[in-house]
Amino acid sequence: MQAAKLICVGGARPNFMKLAPLVRLLRGDDRFQTLLVNTGQHYDDQMSGQFFRDLGMPEPDYQMEVGSGSHAVQTGEIMKRFETIVQNEQPRAVLVVGDVNSTIACALVAAKLHVPVVHVEAGLRSFDRSMPEEINRLVTDVLSDLFLVTEESGAFNLRTEGAAEEKIAMVGNLMIDSLFFHLKRAEESDIARRCGLQENQSFGLVTLHRPANVDDAMQLAGIMEALREISQDLPLLFPVHPRTRSRLSRENVGEGDCIRLLDPLGYIDFLGLMRRAAVVLTDSGGIQEETTALGIPCLTIRDNTERPITVEQGTNILAGTCKKSILAAWEQIGRQPKQGRIPPLWDGRAAERCRDAVWQMLEKHGVR
Ligand code: UD1
Repeated sequence: MQAAKLICVGGARPNFMKLAPLVRLLRGDDRFQTLLVNTGQHYDDQMSGQFFRDLGMPEPDYQMEVGSGSHAVQTGEIMKRFETIVQNEQPRAVLVVGDVNSTIACALVAAKLHVPVVHVEAGLRSFDRSMPEEINRLVTDVLSDLFLVTEESGAFNLRTEGAAEEKIAMVGNLMIDSLFFHLKRAEESDIARRCGLQENQSFGLVTLHRPANVDDAMQLAGIMEALREISQDLPLLFPVHPRTRSRLSRENVGEGDCIRLLDPLGYIDFLGLMRRAAVVLTDSGGIQEETTALGIPCLTIRDNTERPITVEQGTNILAGTCKKSILAAWEQIGRQPKQGRIPPLWDGRAAERCRDAVWQMLEKHGVR
């Protein structure tokens, strides 16, 4: 039997922890020949290389090194380079993850070359088309042949949009596979000490990078004012995303504020801090899921979430994006910390279910 060639694509920081457990499993399975493509949408070592090392990812078979650009430039550049790879490799399927520009670009290339597309994290919807990620999710799902779904809302949205039932597979959450796999190492990290924290000192952890939150100076100023007030009760650690770094001005964090700005952290160090944090304040998608899996209160600095299970079952609270709403949410969890539970199939075994669903799809497409 000839192994079925599968190209797995990653490109931006949040893709790598979802790909790692799946690529590890597929590389150990003779039925698959798994190629890894890194588009290079994120290129700083802190945003990309460090994650490959932390996650024990193999060297990519292709490094596309596309770098930054406007949405059209970045997406177009990824498409041009990925088309050549697909034409040369003739894979049986292309697997894309999440909702970044690399996801939509590679799904579009594969679909036009009649190569089946597998979408990890399919069906999530914020119903907010002003977010670039929502456009990426919608278009990728229109083009996909197999939907690997993390939570019930994803399957519901796909059905509502008319997706065929046999293409939907509820597999759980690959990101949580990585989290459980690396948790012990993360707990052993001395990152808290390196950040100047005392043993058992309480702190909050902040991340911010959504264009809607950080690209507008007034918007960012309001959020930072809320964080400054919160930091009077609880010191905050804030690893700063490159997009945010270029927008934060000196007025945003001043003398007397207990907010410590850090460079972006690797996967293990960030997980080590998140594990110990009293609360996480974030506008990330994935961190809403990780805090739910860890049972740590999360205030999401957004008005909506494409991951509603983290609010319905997990520890997540939508805090809005203005100073008043963020401080109200902060007071709310001070009065009554939100308890949660781990959603179904977020059990560290999603990679196995993804592998089985992909194999079934390949069999339907004539691979034996
Ligand atoms: C992208 C994703 C977003 C994801 C986020 C995680 C899209 C549309 N957005 O947003 O969904 O949550 O990654 O981080 O795909 N930069 C660097 N070094 C890097 C990468 C970027 O300095 O390694 C700077 C560049 O100046 C760039 C800016 O950060 O212009 C933004 O990067 P970009 O890749 O455009 O989008 P993100 O904001 O990172």
